[in-house]
Amino acid sequence: MATTVPNGLDCRSTLGNFQRLHTPINTIPVDEHVLYTPYTPEELKMIELTVNGKRRQFTGDENMPLLWFVRDELALTGTKFGCGAGLCGACTLHVNGQAVRSCITPVSAAKGKNITTIEGLDPGGNHPVQRAWREHNVPQCGYCQGGQIMQAASLLKGNPDPSDQEIIDGMSGNICRCGTYQRIFAAVRTAAKEV
Ligand code: FES
Ligand code: FES
Repeated sequence: MATTVPNGLDCRSTLGNFQRLHTPINTIPVDEHVLYTPYTPEELKMIELTVNGKRRQFTGDENMPLLWFVRDELALTGTKFGCGAGLCGACTLHVNGQAVRSCITPVSAAKGKNITTIEGLDPGGNHPVQRAWREHNVPQCGYCQGGQIMQAASLLKGNPDPSDQEIIDGMSGNICRCGTYQRIFAAVRTAAKEV
């Protein structure tokens, strides 16, 4: 049975997909909140959207997180799964140019919109933010960095000349376990001179 959770997503698509990806199937407890039940034809929706300039179609549960679609169906794996709860920023991509946490964004919210992932930010990887990231050798393990770059690009698009505090505030929702924050700040400051 599908159960609505506070963030508006459907347990079948959120917990179900999480378990499918991360739990051996024979260890999933039998519980009505996490049972993965078949979809009826009425539940399957077809959604059209554009991802990195290409028209795409999605057919399935429209409540499925956009993150699953870009990673699992389009194989655009630069967008990462971190917390799954909108708290870390690893899954950040752009919807019509705005930074969005794709782990808590249902595919339905992307209907008819332009999605940009880190793979599509610049064809040659030479967006001003990407150039600044290289100049400052920002990444350590790299896991958070796609989300950091997408957040920074969105920040500078909306505010090309941010103050120090605006950079700190604009990037504060993107967590880096490696603690590269000082280099992230410096790179955003550098990129701001070029956008
Ligand atoms: S995985 Fe989306 S915000 Fe953490
Ligand atoms: S570079 Fe490792 S989590 Fe940010």
